[in-house]
Amino acid sequence: MSGLAAIVLAAGKGTRMKSGLPKVLHSVAGKSMLLHVLDMLRAVDVARAVVVIPPDGAAIREAVGDRAETVVQAEQLGTAHAVLQASEMLSDADQILVLCGDTPLVISDTVEALLRRHAESAAAVTLLTAIPPDCTGLGRIVRDAEGHVVSIVEEKEATPEQRCIREINTGVYCYDGRVLWRLLPGIPLGPSGEAYLTDVIAAIRAEGGRVADVVASDPAEAIGINNRIQLSVAEGVLRQRVRERLMLEGITLVDPPSTFIDADVQIGRDTVVHPGTTISGVTRIGERCVIGPGSVIADSVLGNDCRVLMSVVESSTLDDKVSMGPFCHVRAEAHLAREVHLGNFAEIKKSEVGTGTRMHHFSYLGDAKLGERVNVGAGTITCNYDGVHKWTTTIDDDVFIGSDTLLIAPVEVGRGAKTGAGSVVTRNVPPGSTVFGVPARIKNEESR
Ligand code: UD1
Ligand code: MG
Repeated sequence: MSGLAAIVLAAGKGTRMKSGLPKVLHSVAGKSMLLHVLDMLRAVDVARAVVVIPPDGAAIREAVGDRAETVVQAEQLGTAHAVLQASEMLSDADQILVLCGDTPLVISDTVEALLRRHAESAAAVTLLTAIPPDCTGLGRIVRDAEGHVVSIVEEKEATPEQRCIREINTGVYCYDGRVLWRLLPGIPLGPSGEAYLTDVIAAIRAEGGRVADVVASDPAEAIGINNRIQLSVAEGVLRQRVRERLMLEGITLVDPPSTFIDADVQIGRDTVVHPGTTISGVTRIGERCVIGPGSVIADSVLGNDCRVLMSVVESSTLDDKVSMGPFCHVRAEAHLAREVHLGNFAEIKKSEVGTGTRMHHFSYLGDAKLGERVNVGAGTITCNYDGVHKWTTTIDDDVFIGSDTLLIAPVEVGRGAKTGAGSVVTRNVPPGSTVFGVPARIKNEESR
């Protein structure tokens, strides 16, 4: 292999997070910080990407999936040692881009600017620096009188004067592969018991090599997450980025600060999102929808012209012109076809609901299949669970379910049938018939 390879460091202990979850798997705007970095890398033309993971890194490996290869760092002996773990895999790469799994805000434009500078300058290393408002805990960039980078000093080891330096190391670098692999094994363990990747800079200078740099135009990109305060700062920055992207794409956010939308959500133009709404996970919403106020939509697909008022939609699909709310809960792979209308207090779980079907007040559908133009009266319940098993209710096209009907599943209601108010339906209802009573029986002339 030759060309550009990337290494993402994700094997650190993350002790400052005080968490049972590996640091790089903590979420920012609904996506783990590691996946932010790996997804960003997709926009950069790297021939091979390797993530350095800890020995107990099964969850990290699973999160990485096929986005990159992984290599285990058996002992957490610092960032230089972490990079070294990929040396065999990437021994003949011309350039090595190194990123940290805990800096999720770096954008691909910046990485590309870094790579361009690296190519132009023919330096042994080009690093990305930043001048953020708060430098706490970060490595400081030491420059000589001509302004050339001489070294990076970690805060722990910095002198009081060096701590006053406002320019910091973002942890993003592009190295000449041969130089990196030659110098890295010689980086000693420091007083903290770790070998610092940052010490490679001074080693390059010591042998007369050239160090180039790019200063990030937006210092927010440099936010490295070592504790939960930094996590919350990154969350705020990323959420605002998502809001701005969506507004520029033609979506109205009536009150952006009270609207929380995850990084990978897609929304079509002229959709309006009202205050107090959260849209999360892998969700796709069409055009001209009205969402909120007060709605929660997770991992769902909505067509065009839908309306979701003060309702919760989870892992479900809504076709065009579905409207619901206030106070509905649609979940567990429910599918609502075109022009389905739900009023107040409707719960729909794992059910198919056909075009134009209406369910206006206080009802529950679970494990049900409803046809087209069904009217579900107030207080209808599919009794889908007998305490042991879940059973299916099937309701065909043009059925009228009277108020307060209980459908004891498994049961089928045939096309065009009707149930009287208060029916408890224990047996299949033939097409076109009317049933009533407890248990429901077929209404005919004699029973009048
Ligand atoms: C590091 C830099 C610092 C920079 C900051 C930017 C070093 C020595 N310091 O500090 O100059 O300002 O990032 O955010 O590099 N990791 C491993 N194996 C290890 C140790 C760490 O894979 O043995 C990984 C971590 O998972 C993390 C990354 O390397 O993703 C950086 O490690 P971290 O401990 O967060 O370093 P910082 O103190 O943030
Ligand atoms: Mg860090």
